[in-house]
Amino acid sequence: MTTWNPTQYLRFGNQRLRPALDLLAHVPLDAPTNVYDLGCGPGTATVHIKARWPEANVTGVDGSEPMLDRAREEHADINWQHGDLCEWQPDATPDLLYSNATLHWLGDHETLFPRLAGLLDEGGVLAVQMPRNFGEPSHTTIFDTMRAHDWRDRLMPLLNEVPTQPPTFYYDLLRPLFTTLDVWETQYYQVMEGEHPIVEFTKGSFLRPILDTLNEEEGAAFLQEYAERVGPSYPRRPDGTTLLPFRRLFLMATK
Ligand SMILES: C[S@@+](CC[C@H](N)C(=O)[O-])C[C@H]1O[C@@H](n2cnc3c(N)ncnc32)[C@H](O)[C@@H]1O
Repeated sequence: MTTWNPTQYLRFGNQRLRPALDLLAHVPLDAPTNVYDLGCGPGTATVHIKARWPEANVTGVDGSEPMLDRAREEHADINWQHGDLCEWQPDATPDLLYSNATLHWLGDHETLFPRLAGLLDEGGVLAVQMPRNFGEPSHTTIFDTMRAHDWRDRLMPLLNEVPTQPPTFYYDLLRPLFTTLDVWETQYYQVMEGEHPIVEFTKGSFLRPILDTLNEEEGAAFLQEYAERVGPSYPRRPDGTTLLPFRRLFLMATK
């Protein structure tokens, strides 16, 4: 499994939190009893879930111990559970399955989403946000760099240019399984600071499995080449910041 570094991930904590809060704000539940945050990471969004419903049993589930360690440091009133979402089962019937920026890491959505729907009873909610920026230079230049050198053979098994399917795919898949279904996309204009901000941003998430596969020297060479390829698409603004347009897909489904 991918090695996550919570410190690198949280370097852009504000930019990553905003869609998580937008997702949470749309959940149409007043008083859920059992809430699961699937792929909770360092628990940033889970804390907001608990704050919205203090009486609920809130459980954050994640496959990364470093991420869970960071979450456990501060939030004792939340249950933190280590588990692989590919085979995870809840210990109580969920009123809400919430998942921010995680399910695109799991393959086979045609099977995964109906399985998650099957874990809910009538009235239960599935709330999901996934990035859908993979056709933009932020990510296409990663794919190009993966193909460019000797590391190609080792990196090709990781190449997945469409981790998140188009909105219509999820609509058609989920519509028969839920009473109500709302699907939308938001393109955020993330204001980024510092040198090579796009590289620093993806280094905390999408680049993780790639850097895990390369040795240190190769990793440094990969990052340098990626920086050279991606930089021209995201010039600095007159105020010295860099804008990263980033599209995210939201799904809100009630059984
Ligand atoms: C981009 S982070 C999102 C974290 C958090 N939801 C947030 O919004 O900040 C993705 C998280 O999904 C977790 N993850 C990815 N695949 C997983 C799997 N198969 N089982 C459990 N967790 C997984 C990773 O460990 C990581 O913490």
